[in-house]
Amino acid sequence: MKNLKLGIFGFGCVGQGLYHVLQQSNSINSEIVKICIKDLNKPRSLEAAYFTDKKDDLLQNEGIDVIVELIDDAEAAFEIVSTAMNNGKSVVSANKKMIAEHLEELLELQEKNNVSLLYEASCCASIPIIRNLEEYYDNDLLSSLEGIFNGSTNFILSKLIAGGQTYDEVLKEAQDLGFAESDPTLDVEGIDPKYKLCILLFHAFGLVAKPDDVFNYGISKINDFDIDYAKKRGLTIKLISKCRREGDKIEAYCLPTFIPIGSVLSQTSNEYNAVVLESAFSESQLLYGKGAGDKPTGSAVLSDISALNHDYKYEYKKKAKNEGKFELCENFDMRLYVRYNGSSPDFNDFESIEEKYQSDRGNFLVGTIKLKKLKNSRWLKDSTINTIVLN
Ligand SMILES: NC(=O)c1ccc[n+]([C@@H]2O[C@H](COP(=O)([O-])OP(=O)(O)OC[C@H]3O[C@@H](n4cnc5c(N)ncnc54)[C@H](OP(=O)(O)O)[C@@H]3O)[C@@H](O)[C@H]2O)c1
Repeated sequence: MKNLKLGIFGFGCVGQGLYHVLQQSNSINSEIVKICIKDLNKPRSLEAAYFTDKKDDLLQNEGIDVIVELIDDAEAAFEIVSTAMNNGKSVVSANKKMIAEHLEELLELQEKNNVSLLYEASCCASIPIIRNLEEYYDNDLLSSLEGIFNGSTNFILSKLIAGGQTYDEVLKEAQDLGFAESDPTLDVEGIDPKYKLCILLFHAFGLVAKPDDVFNYGISKINDFDIDYAKKRGLTIKLISKCRREGDKIEAYCLPTFIPIGSVLSQTSNEYNAVVLESAFSESQLLYGKGAGDKPTGSAVLSDISALNHDYKYEYKKKAKNEGKFELCENFDMRLYVRYNGSSPDFNDFESIEEKYQSDRGNFLVGTIKLKKLKNSRWLKDSTINTIVLN
């Protein structure tokens, strides 16, 4: 087996998690040569000789075979990852934003330089979903993929629905535990899970979807009225990312969704993530595991490093098979709950409205709307209006 020499960018939550899992795993033949961080003055748990703030100490170092990119800045990450591949180094990354935004360029860089880029930790952290989509679901019978792709919002929703804490208190707790990104907007507005959905859309169906083309709506407006609505009806609320194939069209979105208590996804709590896959013959299958945190994420990075020891590359088989076959579709009906107080939604946007409720505490409607109409509606941006999918 090879003895891979690693250059690691980032020694925050995931970088330190990787260090710990590398120390405790004796099955992987690799060694850390250097770690590049931003601030050399921060106290570190390792000897100072490991650290540098100069990226070329890693990128131009001929003694390093593999760059492990674990930083929280997607633009800097893209530059690091591109330079590494152009210098003939394979790369492991956990950076979903960077990967989702630059998918096509990253494919070209791999091909041009005959190197491998692996990024299992970027989607649902410890859950081995990408390699499963590449290797196991290596056929065209997959019809849908949905789940809980963001550990911090799932943690926040689980705690909020359990009661006794405010939104700000649970957000702070998620950040202190290392589950929330440094900028919580990416999590709570559903942007982080959308990046993961774009990556999974590619590995599931071979479709390259730009993050701007996939609709996301977050959990930051959920209030006690919405939680009471759920509780009275035996439901809970989860931030669900979903893609579904309908002929040659693919429906995809990331939206808060009411889920029946007792269903598989309702039992996925706190920082856990889950992915439910539907395919023609195996029918429904579930992958479940920790979607955030230092060691769970570090373990997925370790698994990619181990795969590089065996010269593993994603073959992107669905891309080759389905090139130009599928397109994103927004012209499909969704059943929604819309809660409003001051302003009202535009009722004309709905295909049909099956229920309207008014009270001193708040109003809601349940109706059917096309995703395209919902996405383009101005009323959805109003701070007093919230929406949740009702299946
Ligand atoms: N946290 C999770 O549970 C989780 C799960 C899955 C994926 N991820 C992804 O993993 C990546 C890292 O997340 P994290 O939570 O570990 O972030 P973090 O705790 O904020 O750590 C970021 C690290 O990157 C370093 N850094 C930032 N910009 C840099 C640059 N230009 N050059 C060199 N080093 C730089 C920082 O240096 P200093 O130490 O000097 O500040 C710090 O060590 C992100 O892409 C994130 O989306 C995280």
